[in-house]
Amino acid sequence: MTAEIIDGLKIRKEILEELKKEVEQYKAKYNSVPGLSTILVGNNPASLSYVSLKIKTARELGFYEVQENLPEDIKEDELLSVIDKYNKDEKIHGILVQLPLPKHISEERIVNAIDYKKDVDGIHPINFGKLLADSDDFFFSPCTPLGIKELILRSKVKTQGAEVVVVGRSNIVGKPIAVIMSQKGIDSTVTLVHSKTENMASHIKRADILIVAAGVPHLIKPEQIKKGATVIDVGVNRVGINKETGKAILKGDVDFEEAKKIAGKITPVPGGVGPMTIIMLMRNTINSAKNHIKAK
Ligand code: GUN
Repeated sequence: MTAEIIDGLKIRKEILEELKKEVEQYKAKYNSVPGLSTILVGNNPASLSYVSLKIKTARELGFYEVQENLPEDIKEDELLSVIDKYNKDEKIHGILVQLPLPKHISEERIVNAIDYKKDVDGIHPINFGKLLADSDDFFFSPCTPLGIKELILRSKVKTQGAEVVVVGRSNIVGKPIAVIMSQKGIDSTVTLVHSKTENMASHIKRADILIVAAGVPHLIKPEQIKKGATVIDVGVNRVGINKETGKAILKGDVDFEEAKKIAGKITPVPGGVGPMTIIMLMRNTINSAKNHIKAK
């Protein structure tokens, strides 16, 4: 038996069609469109590629879209004033500052400067706190964890009472997905493991749902996986360049070819979690636009 492939591209397309309808309805009702500003500092190839895809998807959905491509050596104060400009711009409902930022800039200071009501990336501490508190207020959850949740729910994976093991404790994936999977309604039992965890293999082997966001190519070996488990691979490791196409060669955190012989369901890399992050950013931006209208 080989695992069912959780096709992120297919699920992304389903959601894209749903969002196109939402934008049409929004346009008809309010005679305007959701607005997204993307801010890229420097020219890190991975960041360039992510931001171009975000812009392409925003255009496909008919958003108002503005881009700032800023030099690597921009001063922190200058970047703060760019953010302030979009915080005040009524046509903009979402501000995305692509991370990582150059070392001379404090990521924390920049993220804190974004109006949390436009933080469609869900990384501002107020949004992070509301997620943790399971708030009834409107707030944004981060896009990759939201995408993982959609993949799991739309693939009809049983979450109630399931043992979830999350590998990696980043603020953008590991910590928030651990919170989301333990929320009421999802109802999983969550273990978060990381580079200092002892007996990592014993935890991983218990996972009915294994979510790996460690950033280490092929960290997870097939023999570590419980038979029939759902495996969600968040790793997008650039391990080289294809000489013919000039494109990056991507490897996940899981050895997909071997793991699919053991797992029940599994995401590929590329084509699993990756496409979901961007579509969730678009959904957050539409929700933000609706929320701004409501608050007027
Ligand atoms: N860098 C890698 N992933 C992300 C993301 O989801 N949002 C932002 N802003 N930067 C990133």
